[in-house]
Amino acid sequence: MFYIGIDLGTSAVKLLLMDSEGKIVNIVSREYPLYFPHPGWSEQKPQDWYEQTILGIEELIQDVDKEQVAGISFGGQMHGLVILDEDDNVIRPAILWNDGRTGEETEYLNNVIGREKLSAYTANIAFAGFTAPKLLWVKNREPENFARIAKIMLPKDYIAYKLTGVHCTDVSDASGMLLFDVKNRRWSEEMCDICGIRVGQLAKCYESYEAVGTLLPQVAAQLGLSPSVKVAAGAGDNAAAAVGTGTVGDNMCNISLGTSGTVFISSKQFGVDRYNALHSFAHADGSYHLMGCMLSAASCNKWWMDDIIGTKDYGLEQQSIEKLGENHVFFLPYLMGERSPHNDPEARAVFIGMSMDTTRADMTQAVLEGVAFALRDSLEVAKSLGIELKSTKICGGGAKSPLWKKIVANVLNLRVEVPESEEGPSMGGAMLAAVACGEYASVEEIAAKVVKVVETVEPEAELVAKYEERYQQFKRIYPACKPLFR
Ligand code: XUL
Repeated sequence: MFYIGIDLGTSAVKLLLMDSEGKIVNIVSREYPLYFPHPGWSEQKPQDWYEQTILGIEELIQDVDKEQVAGISFGGQMHGLVILDEDDNVIRPAILWNDGRTGEETEYLNNVIGREKLSAYTANIAFAGFTAPKLLWVKNREPENFARIAKIMLPKDYIAYKLTGVHCTDVSDASGMLLFDVKNRRWSEEMCDICGIRVGQLAKCYESYEAVGTLLPQVAAQLGLSPSVKVAAGAGDNAAAAVGTGTVGDNMCNISLGTSGTVFISSKQFGVDRYNALHSFAHADGSYHLMGCMLSAASCNKWWMDDIIGTKDYGLEQQSIEKLGENHVFFLPYLMGERSPHNDPEARAVFIGMSMDTTRADMTQAVLEGVAFALRDSLEVAKSLGIELKSTKICGGGAKSPLWKKIVANVLNLRVEVPESEEGPSMGGAMLAAVACGEYASVEEIAAKVVKVVETVEPEAELVAKYEERYQQFKRIYPACKPLFR
């Protein structure tokens, strides 16, 4: 049988076709626009996601026996606010995970309602990109839109709704809304009251590997698929990527170098750190995880390459980088503000330390290193909780670069294990579909059977020591610049 994994990302939807043994049969990617209507705002049109997803599925399955397609599921960009009216029409463009407009609402939630209450109700505090502050923003700034809300959804859930007609979400993605009682895996009535909504406006919440329905007859006919194709709830892109890289069970780590950058640590036990510095979310395998999220990771390199240097040849640009651990240029990667650990939507990117002999290669290197240092910030929080890690998986577009993987291994002092495919979320989505269809008994079982590590990057003691010194300097740059961002 075949399973389709849909990774509804920020720059594109990436679709993957997997067979029963976990072999990747085809991969397709289709882009859509991202709108920045004000500095720090970030929006997309749900209709664009759906159109490109349908075109992507058609392309993905054009050369296979369509009768063999049994299931579809997702990894989706998290936290985005999608609001539908009574007739299920989209009310306004979706406000995305990397949107920083909700400074006031985040302050209100953390300081007026109070971090302790938020943490008790949801296991998390408010971050600008989370969904509840966005709902409050719409309530305060667009009351006419707020009054029309019949359903509140997350990005991938809109696609599931269009495919099946079912309003659904899953525990991992719901965790990032600040409306979900993560420990007990159910909506928080208290948080709904605080945000002025009813639980009935939220979608029914499933485990990620559960089927929510089958394809609507008209969608099945359009795609040439059977209407008995099952659609599983799927997961937030990070939990889906963790499934796709085999980061399930206890104390496993995955680093995602996508538009965002995340350090994801799986755990059998529910846990919250004292300051809520890491997100405490439900995992797609039925358990829990902790996560640090930086808002701009591979997107920093993309910005530097495409928009500033003006090249598409990322590999060539990285060839002239030789002196690892000795760069005098630093880059703070906060192009869209920063989430973990600073929770500061007003933070901005900075280059510092250039001299007359600084080269373009030094600056490119600083961008790659700055992202690795910022990931290390989240790892440091995990270490302070007593979490000990020796290795990590890696995925996302940035994981295609051998140089970047080496920098990450040495800055974080972790053995980096590279899975066969860097397509974490779409692979995870396809795997969740296979579990929903009964091909495998559990997420842990399919992960153990299909995820293969094809390369290992070991940290090197001398380089780790050099990067340790650089990291200690990096850590001092944000506090020094912080007053200038106001
Ligand atoms: C996670 C987060 C990002 C998005 C990217 O909390 O905001 O990783 O999910 O798509």
